[in-house]
Amino acid sequence: MTRAISAVKGMNDLLPSEVARWHALESTIRDVVQLHGYREIRVPVIEPTSLYVRSVGEGTDIVDKEMYSFVFHDEPLTVRPEGTAGVVRAYVEHAIHAKEPVSRLYYEGPMFRGERPARGRYRQFHQAGCEVFGDPGPLVDAEMIDMLVGLLRRLKIQNVEVVLNSLGGKGTKARYRERLVEFLEPKKDALSEDSKRRLQTNPLRILDSKDPKDQAVVADAPSILDVIDDDDRAHFDGLRRHLDRLGTPYSIDPRLVRGLDYYTRTLFEVRGQGGELGAQNALAGGGRYDSLVEELGGPATPAIGFAAGLERLLLATAAEPPRAHGPVLVAPLGERAQAEALVLGRELREAGVPTIVEGRGGSLKSMLRRANGLGSPVALVVGDGELDRGVVQLKDLAAHAQNDVPRSELVREVSALLAARAPGGAEGSAG
Ligand code: HAM
Repeated sequence: MTRAISAVKGMNDLLPSEVARWHALESTIRDVVQLHGYREIRVPVIEPTSLYVRSVGEGTDIVDKEMYSFVFHDEPLTVRPEGTAGVVRAYVEHAIHAKEPVSRLYYEGPMFRGERPARGRYRQFHQAGCEVFGDPGPLVDAEMIDMLVGLLRRLKIQNVEVVLNSLGGKGTKARYRERLVEFLEPKKDALSEDSKRRLQTNPLRILDSKDPKDQAVVADAPSILDVIDDDDRAHFDGLRRHLDRLGTPYSIDPRLVRGLDYYTRTLFEVRGQGGELGAQNALAGGGRYDSLVEELGGPATPAIGFAAGLERLLLATAAEPPRAHGPVLVAPLGERAQAEALVLGRELREAGVPTIVEGRGGSLKSMLRRANGLGSPVALVVGDGELDRGVVQLKDLAAHAQNDVPRSELVREVSALLAARAPGGAEGSAG
């Protein structure tokens, strides 16, 4: 046999048996965000590399080490590592700001980062994200965090923890950067090689370094909240007041900086526990990016957003056994019956009944084995005898019963039987 080809490391197939859970998750997320007035936007998976360099920022792990970048016909391109930059690019490119004062946008799809694969950390993963443009907050900041917590509650994810910080606006960020460099410079030799470099390029990144050497050094670093200016503090206090009123619990971590450069003011991360979630416990993260629209060529526009990792949400959610049954199987016995089986299959589908017509021929026994394998509730057998009598043999596989049904009654009868069995149907709710 020829050697088979495997998927790229860190990129997973989602087999049909898993997809039902994805659909359920995606539909819950869609319900929740639509209730809050978000509308879906779909942007390309590939963008100019410069978009991420200018937004996520040089000196971040994503831009320095993790991007799938390539040059195609002299154009440097990147397969998106995150969704915000592309949405901002589209917001500016289509002058959405000129059409509506506030935009609430939602997106979902695969993202790509060349990270070291582990449980909950993949090279192709999926995010659902929300972005609000044109609202300076802090009311909308609190509403967004509360929506996220409400979503996790609906997904029955336990032990959710919201961590908050404020980076302040541009002025505060610049002042803090200076304070941090002053603090770190004399301790430079104790830092990791990466962080020594970051001291020049991107000192804030040192705060979220995973290296224990760096963590020991930054443990006593000055806090952003000590240098924050009055407006930024009023914004942060406003957010906290709203969250308190909503009864949404949170803690404050003045060292939370998150791995992307575009953030200003509000920053948040939502962590979970339990299920199969391991060390990769950040379920969602986000924050305000009040300068990014302008930096990418649009008018000055305040903005805030977050993205949740769908794989991690699924790891944190207990798997429920699939409830839906498989399709009805139409089993033609002999050549004459095959054409009739095709017509029957089409009629059933037109009535909304998922149906597969067995096309491979074979014995009744082998067809019933196939029906069992598919989880079919019903098999419909048509042979020469049935054709002559104008009936179809209905095998109720769940009830181990069978009877001949007149061809003209069949679609109605199968539909009624399945409706009664459906969750909430006459038999479904009794059982
Ligand atoms: P992020 O924190 O980089 O933020 O990613 C958001 C979420 O995506 C994480 O909390 C995690 O659940 C999931 N995630 C990230 N990397 C991976 C990975 N390698 N494997 C599996 N899941 C992963 C952003 O991407 C920002 N764009 C969020 C945002 C939107 N900020 C403002 N608006």
